[in-house]
Amino acid sequence: TAPVVSTLSEITLAEPRGFCAGVDRAIEIVERALQKFGAPIYVRHEIVHNTYVVNDLKQKGAIFIEELDDVPPGATLVFSAHGVSRAVQDEARARGFSIFDATCPLVTKVHVEVAKLAKEGYEFIMIGHKGHPEVEGTMGQLDSGIHLVEDVADVARVQPLQTDKLAVVTQTTLSVDDAAEIAEAVRQRFPKVREPKQQDICYATQNRQDAVKVLSPQVDIVIVVGSPTSSNSNRLRELAQKLGTESHMVDSADELQAAWFEGKSRVGLTAGASAPEVLVNQVIERIRAFGAVSVRKMNGIEETLKFPLPKGLRLDTPT
Ligand code: F3S
Repeated sequence: TAPVVSTLSEITLAEPRGFCAGVDRAIEIVERALQKFGAPIYVRHEIVHNTYVVNDLKQKGAIFIEELDDVPPGATLVFSAHGVSRAVQDEARARGFSIFDATCPLVTKVHVEVAKLAKEGYEFIMIGHKGHPEVEGTMGQLDSGIHLVEDVADVARVQPLQTDKLAVVTQTTLSVDDAAEIAEAVRQRFPKVREPKQQDICYATQNRQDAVKVLSPQVDIVIVVGSPTSSNSNRLRELAQKLGTESHMVDSADELQAAWFEGKSRVGLTAGASAPEVLVNQVIERIRAFGAVSVRKMNGIEETLKFPLPKGLRLDTPT
């Protein structure tokens, strides 16, 4: 139900928001595989962390699994955008599945860096969230030698076998500011540590957080469209809150609560990298029903990056 007397005036849309190039590509890989090979297409883990996207692909014939045991022989299998460990890759290959890898190229870049430095004798400190599939995939590029730190306190506890050849890697979807603070603690404790030339946090994570930094002070409340499992969406909500603006994350428009908007005038709206624009539009409609009268777009960076599809799924490649 709408507030009795609405004080709402304007919705400001963050720029950029929503889908990144890696998510676009991952979803397109599943859709093209469905078109080309027919249902079912098996997908290891949620292709991207968004409920709407996953349900939509389920309806089109995708089957989401966590264990390769649940994939029948001869099936077509897609790895999610978060990437997989070597063990999963090897096992999938050994079982003879027809594999399409939807790992974001920016995650693969981290995997390649880890493999290269490991050959040179490096050990790693990985900044990331325990249990996130991307962290499992990146740590699983090696049998051992990657130590996970989640916060500054972990940095004091970590026990590498040596400190001459130590490198930092990070999850791509962290809070830029938290990661910088943790990296600084790593540098203090291990002055010789090697850091990535370009940081591992991806352009999409960086740009969406930068936009929230601009947006938050202009509004009374920030709504983030994203699923609870989405790392980068959670970071957007936290960031707005840290900047002193009340913030809520919603998986869909019906999770919006009228009470959040009582006494508020300006609403900021953004979406995580895995959240589709259709949900943003539904959220806008719902907030309008609560009383908001106008919608304006913030000025922001225009993203043009696009990743090529894997061979075998491109339109211009014959079957
Ligand atoms: Fe890739 Fe960053 Fe998106 S790692 S999947 S571009 S959030």
